[in-house]
Amino acid sequence: MKKITILGASGSIGRSAIAFLRLHRDKFALDAVAFGRGWETAAAIVEEFGCSAVSFADPQAAEAFRACGRSGGCEVLSGPKASAELAARPVDTVLAAISGSAGFPSVLAAIEAGNRLALANKEALVCGGPQLLVRAKERGAVVVPIDSEHSAIFQCHLAGRPNEVAKILLTGSGGPFRTWSKEAIRRATPADAAKHPNWSMGPKITLDSATLANKGLELIETAYLFDIEESRIEVLINTSSILHSAVHYVDGSLIAMLGAADMRNAIGYGLTWPERLATGVDLIDLARIGRLEFERVDDERFPCLGLARHALHSGQGGTMMYNAANEVAGRLFMKGAIGFTDIPAIIDRCLAGDTARFASDLDHVVTADREAKAFAKSVAERHIAEAA
Ligand SMILES: NC(=O)c1ccc[n+]([C@@H]2O[C@H](COP(=O)([O-])OP(=O)(O)OC[C@H]3O[C@@H](n4cnc5c(N)ncnc54)[C@H](OP(=O)(O)O)[C@@H]3O)[C@@H](O)[C@H]2O)c1
Repeated sequence: MKKITILGASGSIGRSAIAFLRLHRDKFALDAVAFGRGWETAAAIVEEFGCSAVSFADPQAAEAFRACGRSGGCEVLSGPKASAELAARPVDTVLAAISGSAGFPSVLAAIEAGNRLALANKEALVCGGPQLLVRAKERGAVVVPIDSEHSAIFQCHLAGRPNEVAKILLTGSGGPFRTWSKEAIRRATPADAAKHPNWSMGPKITLDSATLANKGLELIETAYLFDIEESRIEVLINTSSILHSAVHYVDGSLIAMLGAADMRNAIGYGLTWPERLATGVDLIDLARIGRLEFERVDDERFPCLGLARHALHSGQGGTMMYNAANEVAGRLFMKGAIGFTDIPAIIDRCLAGDTARFASDLDHVVTADREAKAFAKSVAERHIAEAA
């Protein structure tokens, strides 16, 4: 039995991971689960899987869980450091699926403990930078990506050696506004941005997919995970989200990974690698799909991708700022305080400053992230005041 910890077990990735574990109860034990505040979901999961420990970032949720009479005697941790404490417990794999940079401390803790890390929480890597992967190597913590694109690239890398890679092809769906005019995008509402054409995901990544900031975060994640410069990462839209990404080799071969638009595929692989098990995802029927269509990204309508390239050139301070500005601007948009196109405008203004000052060693990433977000908030306030 392999012991698994899931950080963010009530979220979209967390729920898909649990659905995968249900298929293989003879092979995996869900040992520990971390939540923000979802104590009712926690109670149901702990009852079903008999977990040994649970954590809540919100102490009140932890109290409600303790009082509900369904904790089954499992240990309860609470507070801002609880998920990191949980992630440091020895298990076979920690699945990191908290959303945003809030997941960084638990990702670092899992790595420090030498746990194998199935990484969905891309923002943690974007904030920590390549030094996070260096630390993983030092601690013997294997990192397997869970983002569908990075899982695909990881699998395509098995076909050759790193020095034989010519270029990486990172694909995306284009999001709900792929065919919208610049003016229509400017007027887009949070409800419009929530309608992703191909994927069902949590609220933050769904918005990030509409701005293509998610593709920007993924570009940075690709550069860091596969140690490749941004100029050798091509981004194309595959409208059906069937081709999850690919690797071009120096001999002219293109090795691609295809599959249904269903995260259970990448999650299952992340938990079972180097083996494969059934995930409940149907085989794709290429005759029914008929054709694979590709488009380039229109940088004018979707500036977030180009901004991510720019951020990468500024190093870890730049990519941390990119993430901080995106999280701050995304929240303001969801609250109705700014328009959709103000999101890239605010990221752009944040990156125009001296981002190198946010570069930090792993022990100070949380503080640097807090400072980067405070800076982004001040930039956003100025932006809103000027627009009024
Ligand atoms: N969804 C996808 O298909 C997909 C695909 C690729 C990559 N990813 C990446 O996977 C990560 C998770 O995405 P998601 O869509 O699953 O997000 P989500 O549905 O919003 O779920 C987020 C999870 O994190 C928990 N959480 C939030 N803040 C927390 C904190 N401070 N401490 C502990 N737990 C906290 C939430 O718990 P509560 O509900 O209790 O607050 C919830 O379980 C993101 O980094 C995303 O980019 C997602």
